[in-house]
Amino acid sequence: MTFASLAAKKALHEPIAMVTAYDYPSAQVAEAAGVDIVLVGDSAAMTVLGYESTVPVTVEEMLMLTAAVRRGLSTPLLVADLPFGSYEVSNEQAVTTAQRFIKTTGADAVKIERGGSSVDRARALVAAGIPVMGHVGLTPQTASAIGGYRSQGRTADEALAVYESAIALQAAGCFAIVFEAIPTPATDAIVPHLDIPVIGIGAGPRTDGQVLVFHDLLGIYDGRPARFVKRYAELREPMIAAVTSYADDVRTGRYPQPEHGYAMPADEAARLCSVLADRGATPVRTARTRRIG
Ligand code: KIV
Repeated sequence: MTFASLAAKKALHEPIAMVTAYDYPSAQVAEAAGVDIVLVGDSAAMTVLGYESTVPVTVEEMLMLTAAVRRGLSTPLLVADLPFGSYEVSNEQAVTTAQRFIKTTGADAVKIERGGSSVDRARALVAAGIPVMGHVGLTPQTASAIGGYRSQGRTADEALAVYESAIALQAAGCFAIVFEAIPTPATDAIVPHLDIPVIGIGAGPRTDGQVLVFHDLLGIYDGRPARFVKRYAELREPMIAAVTSYADDVRTGRYPQPEHGYAMPADEAARLCSVLADRGATPVRTARTRRIG
């Protein structure tokens, strides 16, 4: 996937499928599923690192996750979220951080949140040759400043603010923009004014594409999903059941079985025992008798 083919998809009204991934196996799943864009979202803070919000995740943590995703991905566009505090201070800070992502992880682009000062950051990043995805509506990095995890653009004035930010980010050179938790009528009114692809999450069906968090759509994450999440699998329970069965098997001696071990020629095994006996080595315990539960 290239930036040009993404733009072509919008022009041809071909919906764009985007998903998050945070490590090598989830990247391989996204690759095999044939999605168009993979985002190493700072949602990793909550889904894989166990933080309470996206705010504490560090640049180093995101760099490691993005590099792992890169190793599992070849076809989709790879976008890395710049974490909170790594780009807001100045254009120089934004460019320095984004260059680390592009140089050391192989990400194709970065994503930053909000309008306002992020518009300047986006312009500076694009001027430095770094493709940028914008993100408006519910911006989790600044959730407390916008009244918590609630939809944005519920009044005409609020929706106009979303529109202004989106238009400014487009003018700054963003190649695409995420609309998160925006009422469907507001999305419907704003999207026709944008030339760049709009990827929605809780923004209704009229965007150019959709994005969901890997752990949400697969039902891996423990916790109540947001209203906009559609679960395509419930993997948490089968994962717990499988690990429980494994632990039971270990405790009852059902695992491992002979087929899970490596063979040794009988004469070599006999010679080993005889050499050990000649050396006077005495076993501290006899091999544990297998208990079949
Ligand atoms: O961090 C993330 O996963 C995101 C998506 C929800 C767009 O920003």
